[in-house]
Amino acid sequence: MKLLEHVTNKTNEYIENMPKSLRKRYGQFFTSKETASFMAGLFVLPSNKQSLKILDAGAGSGILSVALIEKLQSYNQINHIELVCYENDTNIIGLLEDNLNWVSKHSNIDIDYEIRTENYITSQIFEYNNWLGANPTPEKFDLIIGNPPYMKIGKDAPEAKAMPDVCYGAPNLYFLFTAMGVFNLMPNAEMVYIIPRSWTSGAYFKKFRQKLLNECVLEHIHLFESRDKVFDKESVLQETIIIKIKKSNEKLEKVCITTTQSSRDFESISTFWAPYDTIVSGADKYVYLATNTSEIKTLELVNTWSYTLPKLGIPMKTGLTVDFRNRETLRNEAEDNAVPLFYSQHIQNGKVIFPIGKENEYIVTDKQGLLQDNANYLFVKRFTAKEEHRRLQCGVYLSRVKTR
Ligand SMILES: C[S@@+](CC[C@H](N)C(=O)[O-])C[C@H]1O[C@@H](n2cnc3c(N)ncnc32)[C@H](O)[C@@H]1O
Repeated sequence: MKLLEHVTNKTNEYIENMPKSLRKRYGQFFTSKETASFMAGLFVLPSNKQSLKILDAGAGSGILSVALIEKLQSYNQINHIELVCYENDTNIIGLLEDNLNWVSKHSNIDIDYEIRTENYITSQIFEYNNWLGANPTPEKFDLIIGNPPYMKIGKDAPEAKAMPDVCYGAPNLYFLFTAMGVFNLMPNAEMVYIIPRSWTSGAYFKKFRQKLLNECVLEHIHLFESRDKVFDKESVLQETIIIKIKKSNEKLEKVCITTTQSSRDFESISTFWAPYDTIVSGADKYVYLATNTSEIKTLELVNTWSYTLPKLGIPMKTGLTVDFRNRETLRNEAEDNAVPLFYSQHIQNGKVIFPIGKENEYIVTDKQGLLQDNANYLFVKRFTAKEEHRRLQCGVYLSRVKTR
């Protein structure tokens, strides 16, 4: 039996017997066999080596490590692997051990594996921060593959405190794992990770993006068109992407962007080579996930504009009131002192239409923090209905009451 098939069968048995609530605590869900194989196939091996040091942090049942071992077997170049797997969920360590043991017996490559049950982030706090004259030659790897836990953590969580240089606001474990991966890479070595796409923009991720893209180059991005099919059996609704980065400061002309419908059909893949500087942009290192020439042209056009909205005196902000956190203030009907609470449904064909008879479309409160001045606004909504062609929809709101 093929190595990966054996491990995915064992993983499926585990999923059936382990309640999701327990796995969720560790941010645990598993990569499909097709995605794992695709990720493993992205690596370009160092041409001068027969022995490789590999890292899989947050290894789960070992699917990604095993997909990589299976690929390496088919290349004939590699005769020895030193594999390090970090995994701190005691429920799954037995399965990981069994899988790696089975695979090392059935592989034609000599495999030395080590399972580390400590926390991947906090166990490297001294090396990462170079504290107290920590080990001057921290451990580095030739290839790193990973599907890290996706979990928001508090800004005072031990993992956040271990990596202060990339944290701003409330961090997420996935980008700490990615930044630690960068730290664990040898020069010119490659890392392939499957992670949410949220890091590609936004202020919370700026320090992380800068670290990642100043120390590495982004060689490949893979996008899934349908966001709910990446972790089948798992119903994870995160929009995930696969990235391959290389620890190098060489200047790349192009980045390879591939797309498939889901994590099952890597047979029908489309490939687009995009100009690197358009995809990875400016000092803030935004990453634009463009998939065709027309999107690149739009980006290049927008990049020629010399003004931003704040420079033009048009600040943007998100709405002040989160309805479900202020239930006691919500009303279905107008009453004395009630003010409108606008939802995306109120933005229709470029206008703000109110009232529309929607539940909770008024609020009554004297908390100033929930109220905004009745001024002129342009409302923008990002969650659009299926029939709306554009992802962004706007509605003009004029403060003056319309008189008939
Ligand atoms: C999203 S799962 C991925 C599992 C596996 N790599 C795969 O792709 O199928 C992330 C794994 O990281 C483990 N994990 C979470 N936090 C960790 C930490 N701080 N150190 C080590 N492992 C951790 C979880 O228990 C879980 O098994």
